Amino acid sequence: MRTRLTLIALLATTLLPAKDIFVSTPQTTLLLKAEEGKPLHVSYYGERISDAEQVYRAFSLWNEAYPAFGTSDTFVPALSVRHADGNMSTELVYQSDTEVKEANSTLYTVTMKDKLYDFYVDVCYRAYQNADVIEAWSVIRNGEKKPVTLLKYASAFLPVRQGDVWVSHEHGDWGAEAEVSEQPLMPGIFEVHDVTGTKNAYKNRPNIMLSLDGKPKENSGRTIGAVLCWSGNFRITIDTNDKKVHHLLAGIDDTNSQYTLAKGESFTTPELALAYSDEGMGGVSRSYHRWARLNDKVHNGTGLRKTLLNSWEGVYLNITEEGMFKMMDGVKEVGAELFVMDDGWFGGKYKRSVDDCALGDWVTDRDKLPNGVPALEKACTERGLKWGIWIEPEMTNTKSELYEKHPDWVVCHPSREPRPGRGGTQLCLDMSNPEVQDFVFGVVDNIMKETPNTYYIKWDDNYQINNFGSHYLTADKQSHLYVDFHLGLVKTLKRVREKYPNLVIQCCASGGGRVNYGLMPYFDEFWVSDNTDAKQRLFIQWGTSMYFPVNAMAQHVSASPNHQTGRRIPLKFRFDVAMSGRLGMEMKPSDLSAEEMKFAQGAFKLYKETIRPLVQLGDQYRIISPYEGKGFASQLFANEQKTKAVFFAYRFETAVNFPRPRFYFAGLNPDAKYRLNQVNANGRRDHWEGATMTGKFLMQQGVEINLNGEYDSCVILLEQV
Ligand code: GLA
Repeated sequence: MRTRLTLIALLATTLLPAKDIFVSTPQTTLLLKAEEGKPLHVSYYGERISDAEQVYRAFSLWNEAYPAFGTSDTFVPALSVRHADGNMSTELVYQSDTEVKEANSTLYTVTMKDKLYDFYVDVCYRAYQNADVIEAWSVIRNGEKKPVTLLKYASAFLPVRQGDVWVSHEHGDWGAEAEVSEQPLMPGIFEVHDVTGTKNAYKNRPNIMLSLDGKPKENSGRTIGAVLCWSGNFRITIDTNDKKVHHLLAGIDDTNSQYTLAKGESFTTPELALAYSDEGMGGVSRSYHRWARLNDKVHNGTGLRKTLLNSWEGVYLNITEEGMFKMMDGVKEVGAELFVMDDGWFGGKYKRSVDDCALGDWVTDRDKLPNGVPALEKACTERGLKWGIWIEPEMTNTKSELYEKHPDWVVCHPSREPRPGRGGTQLCLDMSNPEVQDFVFGVVDNIMKETPNTYYIKWDDNYQINNFGSHYLTADKQSHLYVDFHLGLVKTLKRVREKYPNLVIQCCASGGGRVNYGLMPYFDEFWVSDNTDAKQRLFIQWGTSMYFPVNAMAQHVSASPNHQTGRRIPLKFRFDVAMSGRLGMEMKPSDLSAEEMKFAQGAFKLYKETIRPLVQLGDQYRIISPYEGKGFASQLFANEQKTKAVFFAYRFETAVNFPRPRFYFAGLNPDAKYRLNQVNANGRRDHWEGATMTGKFLMQQGVEINLNGEYDSCVILLEQV
């Protein structure tokens, strides 16, 4: 009987032809080859195709789609497992697959099984039909009798054929986030990773682009993007062999993060969002922007964001009721729509006059605000403004009532002394602990109970994991901390979102430390950087927009001289830089002269009425890069129909006889005629003012813009006639 069954199974296996699985978006295809009893292969990723034959005739069979350690190539594997019996090798073969149509996507699940063990991996691909993005991830399932340990568990693996392939990625630090760096891929390992534990976009960011046709270009060249949707430690590896074939793999960083699965347990890795375009980095960026907006990868993706004033650079921790009322008057006068009170409003036993205490004690400091926060919320409403408030709910200070009560709630091994950060006292709460998750949810919930008209919350995080260990996790699960912290954080954010879907929440981590798609589905926007210097912001915003739509990018006009760099920059330039995202202010409006106030009023009006829908929801075309433009930068945002666009040009350096570039446009309809009008002009005029030109002429010939001297800028509104 047994032999007969085996024979039938064998016949079925041998008779089953290889199956091509086309994982396709409107313009791209990832081609998989599945054959029973064999590993799953990935054969192609690029422009959309429907004929697999030409791929197989042109090239030899490509790589395994999810190589496991011990039985596949000697490249860095995607998966490495210690099985229940101690065996370190895994051999995954195709078992079955499903295809499920979803609202805006198709989900392909390919189930692979170890040849020996009840150990399964579902390799999953979600192909979007409203954006050219494919999400890839895996679900690892243990059916063995005893626990298995995951030593490496990448989200996905992608081979890239040989060519002059370059990689670009963003790295940085506080106040200097998202610096774009590019290099050709040479034989060996290229890697970006983060081990801060809490804010994985602070230094290296979990995104890269591969330019397949040499040095990366903005609007031409075949380009692949890879974005890891995860907020914890990550590792992106490109293993290039001597024939210059590249293997890209990305996922949670396995360093000090071995993960144990008991019998019956499974682990779902975060998604790696892949995008392909032959329109260069800009094409890949626009795919990510579209994917994020249309599929709420940024919370409320297609919603227009309100303009605001945040109190931080205006008063820092010196909050007073009087001062807040005065700022609200200024917000109303300038024409912004929302007022946000930043750090410094809270503290009971310990009052937050310096940044060394009270995180966790979310009670109003009655010395500063005798009538409490409800009085401020009311004052905003009376002025026709929306109200917002700052919190840092995952943190505490050793000088806090919370820490006195729950010293075991902080991230730290029970046997060690905590190593505090900011103020010499700040510590991270342990988000793997369900009690802490309840507490953090409660911070938001209590604010909403006390001031139900709160429109906006700024959720900050200013510390990392500097002393590894958990009071909550058992000894055998200490190595789960880096992962479980983020699973706990996301669980808490989901709870917040279920109860408060309309609350606008900003993601901040000492600036742009948490700019990642692991968290953005729960946040409407993020604080791009604590550096508000308009010149440096051109660079930071440029790098950030590689992967994120600008309606999620909080960009504030601040005082001159700038508080971070001391640089003096005219108000118009500061506005023109901030207007290319979600416009806000971060200074005392009362510091503006009467003339500046008038200009700022005009700028807010223009932004709200004309520029906001174009930049926040339009397609972004980066044109002259500040990195290469020798003192200039330019970009354009066009609506979907390409009937309206706004163009920004900036000059941020000067010298005698300084050469000016020609300003070309991009993304317009070549056949349409557009009228050019300068807006936010502040007295500037150019010879093309009011002229009508075709999209083709503007893109091929461009125009001259007389940007004179340092910090001159120009905003042109293009309307189809
Ligand atoms: C961080 C944020 C700032 C501000 C301060 C308040 O540094 O990035 O924007 O909110 O905290 O302490």
